[in-house]
Amino acid sequence: MAFFHTIRGGWVLVAGLLAGLPMMRAQAVSPFVSGVWSGNVTPTSASVSVRLNAAGLRARLVVSTNDRLTPAVFSQVIASAAGSGNTVVLDIQGLQPATDYDYGIEVGGVLRTEFNSRGKFRTFPQGASSFRLAFASCGDYRDADQRVYDAMLAEQPLLFLHMGDFHYSDTNSILTDDYRRNYDSVLNHRNQGALYRGVALAYMWDDHDFAGDDSNGTAIGTAAARTVYRDTVPHYPINVTGGTIGQSFTVGRVRVIMTDLHSAATPATTAESAAKTRLGAAQKAWFKQELITARDVGFPLILWVSTTPWIGAPTLGADTWAGYSTERSELADFFKDNLIKNLVVLSGDMHALAYDNGANSDYALGGGAPLVVLQAAPLTRLGEPKGGPYAAGPILGTGQYGLLEITDNGGPNIQCRFTGKRVGEGAKLVFQFAASTTGIVPTGVSGPVGGTDRAFVNVSTRGRIVNADEPVIVGFVIGGTTSRNVLARAVGPTLAAFGVTDAVARPVLTLYRANTVVASNEDWTTTDTARLKTAFERVGAFALVGGTSPDSALLVTLPPGAYTLQATGAGGTTGTVLVEAYEVP
Ligand SMILES: [Fe+2]
Repeated sequence: MAFFHTIRGGWVLVAGLLAGLPMMRAQAVSPFVSGVWSGNVTPTSASVSVRLNAAGLRARLVVSTNDRLTPAVFSQVIASAAGSGNTVVLDIQGLQPATDYDYGIEVGGVLRTEFNSRGKFRTFPQGASSFRLAFASCGDYRDADQRVYDAMLAEQPLLFLHMGDFHYSDTNSILTDDYRRNYDSVLNHRNQGALYRGVALAYMWDDHDFAGDDSNGTAIGTAAARTVYRDTVPHYPINVTGGTIGQSFTVGRVRVIMTDLHSAATPATTAESAAKTRLGAAQKAWFKQELITARDVGFPLILWVSTTPWIGAPTLGADTWAGYSTERSELADFFKDNLIKNLVVLSGDMHALAYDNGANSDYALGGGAPLVVLQAAPLTRLGEPKGGPYAAGPILGTGQYGLLEITDNGGPNIQCRFTGKRVGEGAKLVFQFAASTTGIVPTGVSGPVGGTDRAFVNVSTRGRIVNADEPVIVGFVIGGTTSRNVLARAVGPTLAAFGVTDAVARPVLTLYRANTVVASNEDWTTTDTARLKTAFERVGAFALVGGTSPDSALLVTLPPGAYTLQATGAGGTTGTVLVEAYEVP
């Protein structure tokens, strides 16, 4: 195929010479109305979308492991058509997993050289693997500061999850062309277009990019917005009925479900009832089935892209789940009743960074569905709180985005680290947790962090004490020549707040240097509680439940050396325990 392509390129050259024109003149007029972008990525396939300037142009995607694009593999040829705004979505198959690819576009048999016709994506890994996702919402290409798109590109995430307000145009029009121009404006923007050419995208709209501020399924623009999304955005297959654009896909061992909270929603001002809905009946049934399927497959982590905040006191008229509190409770009860224990909510809409560890997010009847919630926004808009309360945040600002780093070595748990970042200032918020089919458990350092990136000294592990002779052990080494303040904890009872049902009732934590006991604790409240609480806050560790909780903790100053922390159950008891150590700054 590459050889054939060379011949075709040669013909262009010959034709150009015959016409008395240099070859570059043959490409002088760009056929591209806007730049390329990629999505619908799997371990072996991807889709690239591009808008051409005329109907009837025959386009083909050229994909290669190098930027010379040879040797290459090719998509089928698709002819542009006026009915879809001359946008072609080109699908490529037969790729290798976890591989970086370059791509370009042939139009009329000529491989184009325009910068906005060249892009990159990386195919997803297959099975257990480590990777990172960027996610955010609320960007307006008309805003002055667009550095956040450069920052996300520099992060080189496997995927950028755009959670809505892609263009902030508040378009509520019956004309598809009005919607097409929004996408052109984003893709032609210098910073934004560069990100979308450089990293694959999964995109779910919110209100300002669907049909306008707080818009819902009664908007006159509903049909046009849906049509243009489907024929323009490189998206995952839409299997949900009822017209919404809900999608799901798998990255490694993480299942991602993105719901459309606007195009089938009843107005937020409608009185609460079982009929009031954000999802619409068809999408809700699909969403529930997706969760059951993900549970049955045994994904260690399920990410739900819910574009607007989950947490908030019921508020009639709110364009968040707070304005749809009956349906929110229905979903929470569904999560609880169907043992969906490892669902993490990714949201934007609120112009802030925040997370919740489940302490404020449980809307099941009688409790039982504490969800981890990660909020990351705004890309270019200004800071604004919404909903809450959150375990940490909201941190208002602009130029903000989230990174979710997944470390998956194939065991039952995968390690997850959410970092809320602000361009130019680095990490503002960190939340670390382990995810498995049995639940989500916070681990390690979490909470707000300083104004710039900083190094953490932290170790943690979650394990099960099976008998008195087999403690759960964590080792750490203090290097250098100076002593360090170290907070160590063995958490049992507090884990119940995170859905762990078999936590050890009364952990005993012992710190050893070689075979010598340095310190030991059973029940942290028997020691200097105020000093420990201050240390918890300083390192961003979650609070231990209640004043009488018999979790254990130690705060010690240690000279350089090798140490181990050993957790057992008091009186030979057994159960799950989280053992962690932090350097206290
Ligand atoms: Fe927004």
